[in-house]
Amino acid sequence: MKIIDSLKERRSVYSIGKTLPVDAEEVVRLVNEATALVPDAFDMKSQRVVLALGEKHDLLWDAIYDAFGGKVAREKIDGFKAGFGTVLYFYDANVVKALQERYALYAANFPIWAQQANGMLQLAIWSGLRELGIGANIQHYNPVIDEAVRSLFGLPENYVLVAQMPFGSIVAPPAPKAGEDISQRVRIVR
Ligand SMILES: Cc1cc2nc3c(=O)[nH]c(=O)nc-3n(C[C@H](O)[C@H](O)[C@H](O)COP(=O)(O)O)c2cc1C
Repeated sequence: MKIIDSLKERRSVYSIGKTLPVDAEEVVRLVNEATALVPDAFDMKSQRVVLALGEKHDLLWDAIYDAFGGKVAREKIDGFKAGFGTVLYFYDANVVKALQERYALYAANFPIWAQQANGMLQLAIWSGLRELGIGANIQHYNPVIDEAVRSLFGLPENYVLVAQMPFGSIVAPPAPKAGEDISQRVRIVR
């Protein structure tokens, strides 16, 4: 199964560099197509993505470092800045609010569904990047960095930041995963 092969390859790659094995336009295409194709509750299209490349990526990680006022180690931030780009994942609070008003019975579910759809999009792009030979990891410096990110890229208040995915060439691959007895987590009933 292609999906399993792809999932096997996707890992958290922390040692990333600036020389991509493919043209940056391949990443642009991946992000555009994954965002168009990944499902969302009620087909509400709540997902928003900002793809920060090159110099914008460097500026982003400097802004993230500054937002923490020295509370996060510079070396840690520089490890992410060492990549070529960052995928920033958001959902649009206005879209969620409109659906909550329209379907009051499900009002409490819409923010959860928006987060779930965001996770689906993250996995699709993470796996797609690896298929392009690109390593990535996922970070959660939100909500501390929310204002700094909005201001850096001129984003509206209704963009709710969910995750940051720095990516780049694979400088060092991660250690192999430990084996697992999957029957502890999956039950087949028939
Ligand atoms: C919802 C979610 C949140 C995560 N948050 C972080 C994070 O903030 N920082 C980080 O370094 N890794 C984060 N990770 C990565 C996990 O730690 C990692 O996927 C897990 O240890 C399995 O390793 P693998 O990605 O190499 O398969 C997150 C993963 C998921 C799915």
